Amino acid sequence: MKPWLRPFLLGMLATAALLGVGTLAFVYAGRYDIGADAPHARPVAALLTVLRERSLRSHAAGLQVPDLADPQRILQGAGQYAAMCTQCHLTPAMRHSEIRPGLYPQPPDLTRVHVDPKVAFWAIKHGIKMSAMPAWGGSHDDPTIWSMVAFLQKLPDLSAQQYRDIVARAPPDDDMDMGGEAAAPPHAADPPAVH
Ligand code: HEC
Repeated sequence: MKPWLRPFLLGMLATAALLGVGTLAFVYAGRYDIGADAPHARPVAALLTVLRERSLRSHAAGLQVPDLADPQRILQGAGQYAAMCTQCHLTPAMRHSEIRPGLYPQPPDLTRVHVDPKVAFWAIKHGIKMSAMPAWGGSHDDPTIWSMVAFLQKLPDLSAQQYRDIVARAPPDDDMDMGGEAAAPPHAADPPAVH
């Protein structure tokens, strides 16, 4: 062993141990602000953004994309989107929601961005950790998720009226009721009237 190597290695070990103890002390002290209204420091935000992008791209890479131009598929996706996604991702006919301003990270406005089909499918199916984006794969099969992806390809080109029209024609979403306009008929849960 070279004479300088031993103190060098000991120095590295001591630094690593100090970093470990420091990190643990920081975590346990509870000084970190976990609030969604306190944004990450810039380097942390930058690191998390790269982590998210790299993870999505690499996990989505092997997916086989079906025919997204199929009108039936787009129509089905419109119904799904109207029932489950609008409060967070907006519509051409609804530009604000109560939940959206408080979300961190902010959900993308899907009426403004063209999403990559593979990345969108993966993100919808598996969700995104430590964000509000749920994993819909637990309650929806792959063809249903592809229908949402197909609709997302069209969404940025729709006017408010075109959006309302396509949702009105869409088959209802039977899987889930989040209280959206297109979900259960009004008063479905009311007890039968007694005379
Ligand atoms: C409760 C809020 C919420 C709901 C409901 C929600 N999302 Fe999201 N979604 C998010 C957030 C927040 C992000 C961004 C996460 C991030 O950047 O780490 C996101 C990200 C996405 C992305 C990734 C976009 C990209 O390429 O970066 C897609 C696609 C998406 N959502 C589609 C949907 C669809 C389709 C639905 C309905 C089935 C839905 N979301 C429902 C909050 C939500």
